[in-house]
Amino acid sequence: MSESPPTSPMPHIRHGSNIGQPLTRRDGILKVTGAARYAADNHPNGLAYAVLALSSIARGRVAFLDVQAAKSHPGVVEVITPANRPALAEDPDAKTNPFMFKLDLLQSDRVRYANQPIAVVVAETLEAATEGAALLAPKYEVEDPIVALDAGESFVPPSVGVGNPSEIYKGDVAKKLAAAANRLDVTYETPPQYHNPMEPHAIVAAWDGDMLSIDTPSQALAMAQGRLAGLFGISPDNIHIRSPFLGGGFGSKGFISGPQVLGVIAARMVGRPVKLVLRREQMFGPVGHRAPTRQTIRMGTDAQGKLTAIAHHTRTQSSTFDDFFEPASDASHTLYASPAISTSHDAVRVDTGTPLFMRAPGEATGSIALESAIDEMANACGMDPLTFRLANYADVEPISGKPFSSKALRECYTRGAERFGWAGRPLRTGQMRDRDGLLVGWGMGTATFPALMFQANAKATLRRDGQGMMEIGAHDMGQGAWTALAQIAADALALDMEAIAFRSGTSDLPDAGIAGGSAHTATAGMAIHNAGAAVIAALADLATSDAKSPLFGAGNGGVIARGGCLYARNDESRNESFADILSRAGRDEISAQGQSAADPSAQETYAMHSHGAVFAEVKVDPDLGQIRTTRVVGAFAAGRIINPRMVESQLLGGMIWGVSFALHEQAHMDRRSGRIINANLGEYYIPVNADVPSVEAITVEEVDSHVNALGIKGVGEIGITGTAGAIANAVWHATGIRVRKFPITLDQLITG
Ligand code: MOS
Repeated sequence: MSESPPTSPMPHIRHGSNIGQPLTRRDGILKVTGAARYAADNHPNGLAYAVLALSSIARGRVAFLDVQAAKSHPGVVEVITPANRPALAEDPDAKTNPFMFKLDLLQSDRVRYANQPIAVVVAETLEAATEGAALLAPKYEVEDPIVALDAGESFVPPSVGVGNPSEIYKGDVAKKLAAAANRLDVTYETPPQYHNPMEPHAIVAAWDGDMLSIDTPSQALAMAQGRLAGLFGISPDNIHIRSPFLGGGFGSKGFISGPQVLGVIAARMVGRPVKLVLRREQMFGPVGHRAPTRQTIRMGTDAQGKLTAIAHHTRTQSSTFDDFFEPASDASHTLYASPAISTSHDAVRVDTGTPLFMRAPGEATGSIALESAIDEMANACGMDPLTFRLANYADVEPISGKPFSSKALRECYTRGAERFGWAGRPLRTGQMRDRDGLLVGWGMGTATFPALMFQANAKATLRRDGQGMMEIGAHDMGQGAWTALAQIAADALALDMEAIAFRSGTSDLPDAGIAGGSAHTATAGMAIHNAGAAVIAALADLATSDAKSPLFGAGNGGVIARGGCLYARNDESRNESFADILSRAGRDEISAQGQSAADPSAQETYAMHSHGAVFAEVKVDPDLGQIRTTRVVGAFAAGRIINPRMVESQLLGGMIWGVSFALHEQAHMDRRSGRIINANLGEYYIPVNADVPSVEAITVEEVDSHVNALGIKGVGEIGITGTAGAIANAVWHATGIRVRKFPITLDQLITG
């Protein structure tokens, strides 16, 4: 029988001097001065330029490419097609776990969606590569594409999202609906959306024998490294990825994409460093998107307005060859108490690129339908929407019956409503006008997103010069991770921010997991926290076991770490600096590793979610139907806030995306060709400043002792949930017209 290691008490680390401070971004000056080097800013010696040729049809095969014409163009170095693409060690269509995205790497002449890569042209200049790609002038055998939600046979997907069951039932929905005093049966539609971060997917790849060096934006360095290792048949240790800055990701950079891998293939083939950058229109297809949904919600209440049944069914679509299904119905698991709930999904396979997680996958789409339906149900019951929500407040997670690890949603409702001025809202529609005669409407929505956590590692070092270092391969997509995580690191090492080095963003550092699922701060933060605790424990061992230390005999658990010093707990006059401890021990530095992972027993016991309440005002031109969002106020509870400035920015960004979801954003598919006809940022509308005059985010204090030791729940995605529903509800309140097809456009208001 083996003995378990002794569990000695750990030193106490005095937190709080860095965590909670509204620091500005540590990389802010680099970014605003243009000194930050993004992937495509790298120009290694001997660089060649690769440009993709993409399919202009959605289904069929490439019958001919004029490779000769492309190759004869001055400056063209190589043309890569399925005919000459070097063999890969792994089938790009193989999928061994749900955290994989099948890739189009020129494995055949089949075309399975519009904008699929069909060739790569490599040249001395970008211009020559672009012209070479145009000269390929593909000829196709065209088949009729299937692109609409009703175009194919539907089926129940084996799972939705990244592995949730596609159907979950509790109670007898049919019976409760039949017996309900008030009933609702409505269908909402949400459009396809494309992530479109400012920085398109880009890669600079260089091979040196079997060593691969890459500059590319990534939300998951170790996963990208593993995927490339598999495809090229080399050890992950041979692959070095640098991803210091990302111009946004929103989920689209969670998996390394086909175009990025094609850049690596091109570099191997031409034996030179190669740069490949997607043009904006090339972002619409091969790098993921949010699939459209059609969601049917049925609800019933008793005579007092208490929900007795919620049924939420989503039809969505995936590609013909891969399996991401938008888990929109899952939004109904969390928010409203009801004795009977059913959530289900069905799907059709269509000729598009594979959908992917896109900011708040499931909750963003699902909360639009759910929050609109709740508003409709409140109206059917003759109740104010906030009163109705409070009457149906879930004190335990409705679908699982688990208590919440924490839930300050009631406070969010109160604080948000106060700030917005909700109390003066007339119950009936069309009651408010501004001085210019515009119809004014107020609506609200509830925001929710799970508090997730993944696995991560970090390495902490304390040095004899009194400085500390934290190393973790974390990802800053612009959200401020390197600022917030450095704050956690400084507290974990009991040092000031100025006294620590924070190394991050490369694949040789400890794996920080994925910057996704709103879980990066919790996941990477807990690894950092644990690494700091481990190195301070090791340092305390050095001091307390040394007869020459003033802390001798205090015991590891008998010391407190604060400001670069250890103090005896019961007598602070006994103390010694980190530097002195290391110096006397003859050590230049001391290091330790820390890990993080979700606690399975806490997850078994508690439901863990962030929450929020969003209130919106719109003004609608009664003649033209033009809609303006004039005010949005969101109040959010997301556990401990590491950096209020970064958090506010995340929440505002999410809420503005909610405005976009409600009123602007959609990809238009040409049903005959299967092509997206607005594959550019001129016609794929997103809100500009004038579209969002006032948006305000409040955070509500929430202490959660179950999610993780730091109490972090995550804020990356919750802001987009709730807002679009709030705006739709405000449009209804202004006009009396209920639009159930998103985005809400003016024609839908004036045709009645
Ligand atoms: Mo987010 S869609 O998990 O990057």
